[in-house]
Amino acid sequence: TVVDEVRRATATHGGSLTVLAPGEALPDAASVRSHDLVLVVASRAHTRGSGAARQVPPPALAEQPPHPNDPLVAAATDGALVATGGVADFSPDMFVRVRAAGTTVVVAGAAAGLLYGLHDVMRLGETAFGDCDIDVTDLPVAPVRMLDHWDNIDVHPVMGQVERGYAGGSIFYADGRVREDLSRVAAYARLLGSIGVNAVAINNVNVHRTEARLLTDGLDDVARVADVFRPHGVRTYLSVSFASPVVLGGLSTSDPADPDVQAWWAAAADRVYATIPDFGGFVVKADSEGQPGPFAYGRDHADGANLLARALRPHGGTVFWRAFVYNHEQDWRDRRTDRARAAYDHFAPLDGRFDDNVVLQVKYGPIDFQTREPISPVLAAMPRTRLAVELQVTQEYTGHQKHVCYLGPLWSQVLTFPLADDATRPVSWIVSGLPGPASDDDTGFLPAGGVTAVSNVGDDEFWTGHPLAQANLYAYGRLAWNPEADPVALLDEWIGLTFPGADPRVRETLHTLMDDSWLTYEAYTAPLGVGFMVDPGRQHYGPNVDGYEYSKWGTYHFADRDGIGVDRTVATGTGYAGQYPSPWRETYEDLATCPDELLLFFHHVPYGHVLHSGKSVVQHIYDSRADAVDVVTSWVDAWQTLHGLVDDRLHARVAERLTEQVRSATEWRDQLRSYFFRKSGVPDASGRPIY
Ligand code: GCU
Repeated sequence: TVVDEVRRATATHGGSLTVLAPGEALPDAASVRSHDLVLVVASRAHTRGSGAARQVPPPALAEQPPHPNDPLVAAATDGALVATGGVADFSPDMFVRVRAAGTTVVVAGAAAGLLYGLHDVMRLGETAFGDCDIDVTDLPVAPVRMLDHWDNIDVHPVMGQVERGYAGGSIFYADGRVREDLSRVAAYARLLGSIGVNAVAINNVNVHRTEARLLTDGLDDVARVADVFRPHGVRTYLSVSFASPVVLGGLSTSDPADPDVQAWWAAAADRVYATIPDFGGFVVKADSEGQPGPFAYGRDHADGANLLARALRPHGGTVFWRAFVYNHEQDWRDRRTDRARAAYDHFAPLDGRFDDNVVLQVKYGPIDFQTREPISPVLAAMPRTRLAVELQVTQEYTGHQKHVCYLGPLWSQVLTFPLADDATRPVSWIVSGLPGPASDDDTGFLPAGGVTAVSNVGDDEFWTGHPLAQANLYAYGRLAWNPEADPVALLDEWIGLTFPGADPRVRETLHTLMDDSWLTYEAYTAPLGVGFMVDPGRQHYGPNVDGYEYSKWGTYHFADRDGIGVDRTVATGTGYAGQYPSPWRETYEDLATCPDELLLFFHHVPYGHVLHSGKSVVQHIYDSRADAVDVVTSWVDAWQTLHGLVDDRLHARVAERLTEQVRSATEWRDQLRSYFFRKSGVPDASGRPIY
């Protein structure tokens, strides 16, 4: 509960905890010590006009859902609580932390805000009880900050139990059912609360037979999981199959227009909410990579999403409907079909047709969680739709949690990218419903969605396979809360919290390894935004330049003896660049302005094409692959110096993974350098070995 969290905080700092009863005034300065923490949940009704706050003990509130209309801004001055703000400024997740008269006071208008305020105190440690006067108001940008688990109950013969999971089995399921012992889930729930995540979907978006039943027979078990998440402000969601009326209900159709289908979903939702009153809603992957969807009935995705939304509506639930819809059975000979175009082509025309409890969940790039992609133009194309951006914390394309790859800088770039309204409105504003400065929308609010991501956690000893991949989970939550945060500062925060009191060399070395590790990973894998080149036979791990080149998946690089890249221009290519608003469509269309890191995503160029960096494309490929392996190799020795300064098992695990990273990066280097030399015949000017 919230109070347990507070006890932890005050115990660490040697102070006492005061929870004020209704009507009680703050203790006066003389009676509190510097480490004391006072919790106040003040309600507006009792302060307006009078200046005297009614103080409600948090445990009572913790049991209640937040009341958006009942908050207040308050501050402590000389031991007395005074109202300083109005209700219009407040959201349920918001808190104010004040240090005054020797007391640290956290004020919130709702249980969620109080929880976040307390975690803020714990994160700060001594600083929160220090002498300096601090007065902080904090609130998240996005209303929903979700993690999706691609966990199955059964162990899949190819994918294992967790699809694209690199940290062992599921924390939720074992032996064909929801675990009896949910203690790891409880620890995870606390962790999520501490980083501001407030929603979790607990099963794979590819909903297999056994998992489909969570919606019906499995509800009591789902309720047990929801009970564990609830005290930490996290609502539980399920991924559901669009074919549920057929698969679970025995109907002959799942057609959204069929009244029996509508009645089936309504009854299913009624049962869910009778068991879990604060259930979040559904996550749906429909008509995507073989999952069932509305297309089978000649309906579109607004029809499909609204069907489920209407069943959830009476209960306050939300549908997270994924925009990851494309033809996964493409003929590689067909150069006109472009997978990158698919989400926009399917969804942009539907803007304005989704019910207001539908959130369209859009992968950050148009392809599939690659190391580098342009931002999905769908996010700029649907101003009348609630949108969420989807990130991937699990490292499917970024080294399977065997490679150090700190993704905070990637997500920071995605969230702050000024996509819309003449490049004034960043992605984080789009998904949070904030208008851009150039917008003439005077309501002040556009539809709000949120930020979602695929989790990287499993039942592994270190939770994430690679112990340093924990930083990605941490940074995800913190960036979803505040997209403007500096990702390296967040990494520093994570280091401090994970290795408290460690020798300063630990911090220094971790920064050396991690700060630029995403760019280093990019530098030895697929070049200049072209993507893929991963091994289909090893679940997207390791190099295979042509692994997907002649496949049905629509992810090609088109390298031949003269050049490489995908022409996605309007003038001569697939027209994808034209899906962007200005100025981006012009920026990407023109070779002269297209950024180097995305060059091969948008253009097919000769190997001799000179980058803005001054190097030719092929020399860039040669050099950066070789340089990156040198960097990774240097990390092995750097990590060795920490022996004895961090936990031995953790040290050994990271050392073992670094050895694998060097091996794998070397393989990437040698295969790519040799491949492009053999294709192009252009020698490497640096003279480094090519095979
Ligand atoms: C990728 C991934 C799949 C996943 C899919 C999705 O294609 O490889 O495992 O199911 O994304 O996001 O639905």
